[in-house]
Amino acid sequence: MHPAVSIGMYLAGVTITYILCHVSIKPGYIISPVLKGLYFVVTALCLLAATTPIFGAMLPDGKIKFFLQKVGDIWLGFFVYFPLLVLVLSILQGIIRLFHGPMIRGLVPGISFVVSLTLLIYGMIHAQQTVVTYFDVDIAAKDAPEEDLKVILLGDLHLSVNSVLSTTEKMVELVNAEDADVVLIAGDIFNSSYNGLSQPEKYAEALRGMKAKYGVYAVYGNHDVKETLFGGFPISPISEAFRIKEMEDFMADCNFKVLYDETVEIADGKVQIVGRIDGEKAGDGTSNRMSPAEVLSGIDPDKPVIVLQHEPVEFAALYENGADLAVCGHTHAGQIFPGNLIVPLFNENAYGYKNVGGLDTVVTSGVGYYGPPMRIGTNSEVAVLTVHFK
Ligand SMILES: [Fe+2]
Repeated sequence: MHPAVSIGMYLAGVTITYILCHVSIKPGYIISPVLKGLYFVVTALCLLAATTPIFGAMLPDGKIKFFLQKVGDIWLGFFVYFPLLVLVLSILQGIIRLFHGPMIRGLVPGISFVVSLTLLIYGMIHAQQTVVTYFDVDIAAKDAPEEDLKVILLGDLHLSVNSVLSTTEKMVELVNAEDADVVLIAGDIFNSSYNGLSQPEKYAEALRGMKAKYGVYAVYGNHDVKETLFGGFPISPISEAFRIKEMEDFMADCNFKVLYDETVEIADGKVQIVGRIDGEKAGDGTSNRMSPAEVLSGIDPDKPVIVLQHEPVEFAALYENGADLAVCGHTHAGQIFPGNLIVPLFNENAYGYKNVGGLDTVVTSGVGYYGPPMRIGTNSEVAVLTVHFK
């Protein structure tokens, strides 16, 4: 979508919401000067906050831009719910009026404001409360290890202006407590930016502390490129989306081995991990990557094959070409209600374990957040997969 269209739609939403609130309150009817003052202060603050995503997108990289992006992302968390509530309550108030009921002034924006603010605060706190989720997967292969394989699946860190270092450090503690065989990171380590992350060296130091017997492997996701962001969401075309050197250096600094449409063997050569380039943004301004048939052409069909990719797609083709298990991220499980109800409509597997056309798949909700730094109805998680071989 063209940046002007995104910003135009957003401004239309802000304007409609403002008009609906204004109609409901009619400031001229407020007799108390204290209430009148409060109304104007809150309105002014909201309108000021509403400008932050726009300036956060337009200004050049720097402290002011990143501050505005930080505030803008939080504002959007509030603005996800506020217009929706205003609209629903305005319709309700309209129906009440239709039946000659009373016009309860201030009810629409008042309730909408308090509920949206409460949801924002809850969602921001909950997003930092990373949980550990356990999955069991069975793989039948002729030449498999005798022991189970413990895999940590991480995804969607979205390191950005609203990341919290202590939450990343806590995530590393949770990972290390599992004493896993391998850590797989399913992309979106960054949030379409590198410079917005303050103290990247501290994050790298924390992530470098992640331990697993066979190491940490990662693939890039559609946000591991530099793009123009509007409220945390990219608005520039794919042809302008390039991975920058700082991102690659950061991954090397973390001791993450990035897989670009390639296969590595772990567990004494008995398990194959196939890491795919992202199918939306390859990092070179294209969407080019190997097809499932191409990327799996060199595998040993007798040994277990685990495919690591960002988006939960092409499951049938992966299965047909010899994959036993696909592990992905990208969906965030919908991140905030009602997203958790919507993403299953557009994904073969939106979250958790699911056998899709014969292929075992696990999609993690991720450990970070995208746009608003909040989670409602979903968890920030470290997924632990115990793979049993038959
Ligand atoms: Fe993501």
